[in-house]
Amino acid sequence: MAKWMPVVEETAFRKTYKYVHRRKEIALFRLEDGLYAIDNSCSHEYSPLVEGMVVHGDVYCPKHGSRFDIRSGAVKDFPATRPVKTYPVKIEDGMVYVKL
Ligand code: FES
Repeated sequence: MAKWMPVVEETAFRKTYKYVHRRKEIALFRLEDGLYAIDNSCSHEYSPLVEGMVVHGDVYCPKHGSRFDIRSGAVKDFPATRPVKTYPVKIEDGMVYVKL
């Protein structure tokens, strides 16, 4: 059953943050309308998306340039063809939680 996990204090990062839980890596992104969490691993060849360039709510994989919608996890550009998983995010008392 999914559980809310405390990740980081909201003020402790500006735009991106990598969270590791039991070998699972989650990439957090701060966009203009809030915080979002997706799998850190690109669905093409597993590069860390938290290191990618963020433009207008999309992240470009640093390895081959696939583009993912950070809010939905959808693929917008090849070579990746599969979306990345997204996770609910909430902030309580200044702490960021991700539901895993
Ligand atoms: S590893 Fe991300 S596009 Fe290839």
